[in-house]
This record gives sequence, structure tokens and C-alpha cells, in this order.
Amino acid sequence: MLSAIISILLTSQESNALYIPQGKNADVSLIGTQEKILPYLAGSGPYFQYQADYGIPKTAPDGCQMTHVQLVGRHGERYPSKSLGKKLFNTWYKISNYTEASSNGSVSFLSEDYTFFIQDTNNLEKLTTPENILDPINPYTGEMDAKKHAREFLASYGDLMENCTTFPVFCTSSRRVHDTAQFFIDALGDDFNATLEIISEEPSAGANTIAALNSCPAWNESTYSNVTDSYSDDYLQGISSRLNNENKGLNLTSDDAYNLFSWCAFEINVRGYSDVCNVFTPEELVHFQYYDDLTSYYQMGPGYPLIQSVGANLLNASVKLLKESDTAQQKAWMSFTHDTDIVNYMTTIGLFDNGEQLDPSGVTFVNNIYHKSWMTPQGARLYTQKYQCSNESYVRYVLNDKVIPLMSCSDGPGFSCPINEFYDYAESRMNGTNFYNDCEVQQVSNNTELTFYWDYKNTTYNATLLDQ
Ligand SMILES: *[C@@H]1O[C@H](CO)[C@@H](O)[C@H](O)[C@H]1NC(C)=O
Ligand SMILES: *[C@@H]1O[C@H](CO)[C@@H](O)[C@H](O)[C@H]1NC(C)=O
Ligand SMILES: *[C@@H]1O[C@H](CO)[C@@H](O)[C@H](O)[C@H]1NC(C)=O
Ligand SMILES: *[C@@H]1O[C@H](CO)[C@@H](O)[C@H](O)[C@H]1NC(C)=O
Ligand SMILES: *[C@@H]1O[C@H](CO)[C@@H](O)[C@H](O)[C@H]1NC(C)=O
Ligand SMILES: *[C@@H]1O[C@H](CO)[C@@H](O)[C@H](O)[C@H]1NC(C)=O
Ligand SMILES: *[C@@H]1O[C@H](CO)[C@@H](O)[C@H](O)[C@H]1NC(C)=O
Ligand SMILES: *[C@@H]1O[C@H](CO)[C@@H](O)[C@H](O)[C@H]1NC(C)=O
Ligand SMILES: *[C@@H]1O[C@H](CO)[C@@H](O)[C@H](O)[C@H]1NC(C)=O
Ligand SMILES: *[C@@H]1O[C@H](CO)[C@@H](O)[C@H](O)[C@H]1NC(C)=O
Ligand SMILES: *[C@@H]1O[C@H](CO)[C@@H](O)[C@H](O)[C@H]1NC(C)=O
Ligand SMILES: *[C@@H]1O[C@H](CO)[C@@H](O)[C@H](O)[C@H]1NC(C)=O
Repeated sequence: MLSAIISILLTSQESNALYIPQGKNADVSLIGTQEKILPYLAGSGPYFQYQADYGIPKTAPDGCQMTHVQLVGRHGERYPSKSLGKKLFNTWYKISNYTEASSNGSVSFLSEDYTFFIQDTNNLEKLTTPENILDPINPYTGEMDAKKHAREFLASYGDLMENCTTFPVFCTSSRRVHDTAQFFIDALGDDFNATLEIISEEPSAGANTIAALNSCPAWNESTYSNVTDSYSDDYLQGISSRLNNENKGLNLTSDDAYNLFSWCAFEINVRGYSDVCNVFTPEELVHFQYYDDLTSYYQMGPGYPLIQSVGANLLNASVKLLKESDTAQQKAWMSFTHDTDIVNYMTTIGLFDNGEQLDPSGVTFVNNIYHKSWMTPQGARLYTQKYQCSNESYVRYVLNDKVIPLMSCSDGPGFSCPINEFYDYAESRMNGTNFYNDCEVQQVSNNTELTFYWDYKNTTYNATLLDQ
């Protein structure tokens, strides 16, 4: 926690602008006390490291040398989306109108001097920055996260960039994704000339995108809602009845109870802590997390076979970069996008797919390796590492600071996959997929291939930024 505060001060000095907005809410004693619940917040709260540590250092093993790295990162901590914001305001209005009387029990903080964490609806969809948050010492802003990440990146992979100080960084045309990439670049410092290539995330981008699901008219969010809807919402009814009983006349519904989890998560991004988080019992947090795992699994993960084709768009490009890496001048590739796209990509890779369908009839503990909340918190980062040991090259993945070995290929040093076996593995994961055809992309675009990693010098990638 202290290190987080120090890094704020350091980074601010670095940019020579220690901007401390006015605010009455600085509560040093509460900030940083809620990190234990971050893994249960559906990835809506601040960044945290992947929760399973297999004990494998993420540096190249002894005697090996890192030769190539690819980063696919999520945007940093942010405000809620516009659609979620609307729901949160509705729940807030119910509670705020009620608490004019007086409130009791776990929402009693609301009758005190509480300010709703969304003060300006223009902030919806946006990254949190020292300028737009409620508490000047909140260490969890998306800006700070991106800058810290860049410094960690340099410490780990800076050597790879020594002969290539001018390079592109790729981002989607979502404003918060763009801003994350720009803050990342800023923090790399003056030793580098990184140019930001803004790749459209609109459907018309077709296959030439980092956000392939947007270009997939064949995808239907509701295809498996028959499965996800069958998950019991007793835990939500439990929350609303508890609060309603403590506060006669407060008529919260299950939907309101569901919204409180997002309120908790996003308020931490904005304020550094959230009293709303204290409303939940540990069991309720587990249910919320598992419901998020389920919806992700059946909407954009291994539970929906079409996703294999969606993620193949990026995996195919990644493999091509790996194959070219021995002769390419550029050894470090950085791209920024949304959580969905990273989840799709990991689905095709098969990082969290043991063939067991997630069970909607209750929380699966021991056999569940699909912890979506852990995979893509705000600021999530997936690295593809390639390193050389003797004369052999190996590939492995590092997600949110932890090495995640491939289930069927981890014989190499550091539990990596020998490169030729990796190519076979990747090919088998993409076998039978055709993103353009399977997704019926022709409905929205004639772009059949992802080309931006190769033609960015010849093409102007300056898509208009979108608040989405
Ligand atoms: C509650 O308060 C808000 C803002 O003051 C108002 O717009 C709304 O109509 C009130 N009533 C309900 C039921 O939300
Ligand atoms: C940079 O160039 C030098 C001199 O050619 C070479 O020894 C070194 O390995 C190169 N570094 C990388 C990361 O390729
Ligand atoms: C960045 O680009 C400028 C202008 O082309 C050049 O003068 C400078 O040397 C470059 N810096 C690095 C670190 O490559
Ligand atoms: C999406 O799937 C749901 C559930 O199967 C179905 O009711 C709906 O019509 C589908 N929507 C489209 C646009 O196909
Ligand atoms: C849910 O719908 C999908 C797609 O229509 C179907 O394949 C599956 O069997 C259904 N599952 C259940 C549990 O009803
Ligand atoms: C406050 O909540 C407690 C526990 O549910 C309840 O016994 C009590 O009557 C409530 N007080 C008021 C003023 O509603
Ligand atoms: C809650 O519901 C009760 C009964 O339907 C109603 O009398 C009361 O006005 C409602 N309270 C609020 C704050 O909407
Ligand atoms: C991978 O990209 C190549 C072109 O580089 C293309 O021919 C092939 O169809 C793509 N495969 C998949 C599975 O997308
Ligand atoms: C791809 O699938 C086909 C048909 O299932 C199979 O014959 C072929 O061996 C597979 N290729 C790879 C590289 O896995
Ligand atoms: C694809 O190209 C054809 C021929 O140029 C054109 O008629 C069509 O509108 C294009 N489709 C899309 C989705 O852009
Ligand atoms: C980019 O332009 C150069 C020079 O015009 C050309 O040689 C090269 O093939 C082009 N590259 C791509 C990927 O289009
Ligand atoms: C992108 O660059 C092109 C060529 O420089 C220019 O014509 C276009 O207006 C730019 N678009 C945006 C959105 O900035």
C-alpha cells in the first residue's frame, strides 16, 4: 500500500505535475484495506496478480535468454460504462431518497456524509486519472496502473528494445484503451520513440482488429443464457431482504443487490475504497464471482464454440510474429484492448480449458480452473514469452504476473513449450476455424485479415476515439 502511494508521488514528479485535486474524502485509513476482495469483483475493480501461483519465476530460467515478447493488455481502472452507470444511478436514487429518513445496519454509512462516487456522468466509460477521481490519494487509478506497468515492463524486457528504440504500440479506438496505451508510452520515458497506432474497434474493421468480437455478427450474447440464467439468484434475494429488513420501506430488488457489487468494485477505482463492499458476506462474494465465471465461460469463453474462431484472429497473428522473430528487428510488441478480447484470445490458446463444462447448478470449486475474475481485472496483462536456452527456443504465457503453463505442453525449461511443439499446438487449437467465415464478417466488412502489425508503416491507423 505504502509503495503504491510512493509510486504516485514518484510518477507525478516524473511528469513534473503533482496535481492534487480538492476533495474532502481522503481517508487514508480505509484506502488499501480491501485488496482481499478484489478477486471476487468480476474484474471490475483494481488490478491484482493472478491468484494461483505455481511457483514458477516469470524471468527466463537460468542459462536462457529472452528473445521476444508480446504483450496484450487490458485498459486500466475505469469508471462504469454508460449502461451500467444508468443502473447504478437507479439503485443509488432508491437508497439516497430513502436515507433522507435514516438508515440502519450495513448501509448506515449512506445516511452520513456520503457522496455518490459518480459525480460527473462525462466520466462514464473513462479511465480513472488523478484529475477525475474523488480522492487525491487513491492509488488505484488507471493512469497510475499503466505507468507502473510500463516501468515493470522496462525492468523485465527493456534489454529487448536496445536496438529498436523506435517502435509502434497498438491500441483499439476505445478512448480508455487509447489512454492506457498513451500513459504506458509516457512512462517508458525519453529513451524511446513509441508511436501509437489506433486500430479501429468498429465492426467495419473486420479481421484487421484487436477487438474481433465486435466484428462478429454471428456471435449472440444470449445463445447460452438458458444455461447461465439457471444459476440461482438466492444470494441476491438474500442481500436485498437483509437490507430491506434492516431498513423498513427500503425496497431493494435482486437487480439492486446485483448492482451493489459493481458499485463496490468501481467505487474502489474512483475513491480507493468503498463502504458498499462491506455489505456482502464472504459466501455472497463467492456466488457473485462464480456467476461471473459462468457468464464469461458461456458468452465469450470455452463454453461457446464460436469463440475458438474469434480468438484465432489474434492468435494467428501472434504465431506469425513468433515465426518472424528470429530475423525481425523489433523484439517487443505491445497491444492494448478490452477484457473480452483477451478472454477470447486465451480461449483459443486453451489456457483455462480443461474440457470440463462449468456447472450452473452450483459453485464448482475443485474442478473449476476458469476464474474469469482473476483473468482480466482492470489492467490485466497477458505476455507471450519466447526465450532461448542452448540452441532451442521455447514459448510460454505469463498472465497477470504469473506463469501459466500450457496444460499439454510444458516440458521445456521454466515449464515452457518447445517452439516447434508450440507451433503444432497452436495450429491444432486453430484447426477448423476461420474467423471471417465463422463470424459472418462479410456482413460488416471486407477485411479478411489482420494486417496492422505488418502494414502500420504504410497505413495510417488513426481511428476516431469512441467512449465505449
Ligand atoms: C430519487 O432521487 C432522484 C434524484 O434526486 C430523483 O431523480 C428520483 O426521481 C427520486 N426517486 C426515485 C424513486 O428514485
Ligand atoms: C543489439 O545489437 C548488438 C550488436 O549487434 C547485439 O550484440 C545485441 O545482441 C543486440 N540486442 C538485441 C536485444 O537484439
Ligand atoms: C526519436 O526520434 C527523433 C526524431 O526522429 C530522433 O532525433 C531521436 O534520436 C529518437 N530517439 C530515440 C531514443 O530513438
Ligand atoms: C440470440 O439467442 C437467443 C437465445 O437463443 C434468441 O432468442 C435470439 O433470437 C438470438 N438473437 C439473434 C439476433 O439471433
Ligand atoms: C442451451 O441452448 C444451447 C443453444 O441453443 C443448446 O445447445 C443447449 O443444449 C441448451 N442447454 C440447456 C441446458 O438447455
Ligand atoms: C435495524 O435493523 C435491526 C436488525 O435487522 C432491526 O432489529 C431494527 O428494528 C432496525 N431498526 C430500525 C430503526 O429500523
Ligand atoms: C416500498 O414498498 C412499499 C410497499 O409496496 C411502499 O409502501 C413504499 O412506499 C415503498 N418505499 C419506497 C421508498 O419506494
Ligand atoms: C492465419 O493467417 C494466414 C495468413 O497469414 C491465413 O492464411 C490463415 O487462414 C489464418 N488462419 C486462421 C486460423 O486464421
Ligand atoms: C486438423 O483437423 C483435421 C480434421 O479433423 C485433421 O485431419 C488434421 O490432422 C488436423 N490438423 C492439425 C494440424 O491438427
Ligand atoms: C465489400 O465490397 C463490395 C464490393 O466492393 C461492396 O459492394 C460491399 O459493400 C462491401 N461490403 C462491406 C461490408 O463493406
Ligand atoms: C510498405 O511499403 C513499402 C514501400 O512502399 C513496400 O516495399 C512494402 O511491401 C509495403 N509493406 C506492406 C506490408 O504493405
Ligand atoms: C487519419 O489520417 C488521414 C490521413 O492523414 C486523414 O485524412 C484522416 O482525416 C485522419 N482521420 C482521423 C480520424 O484523424
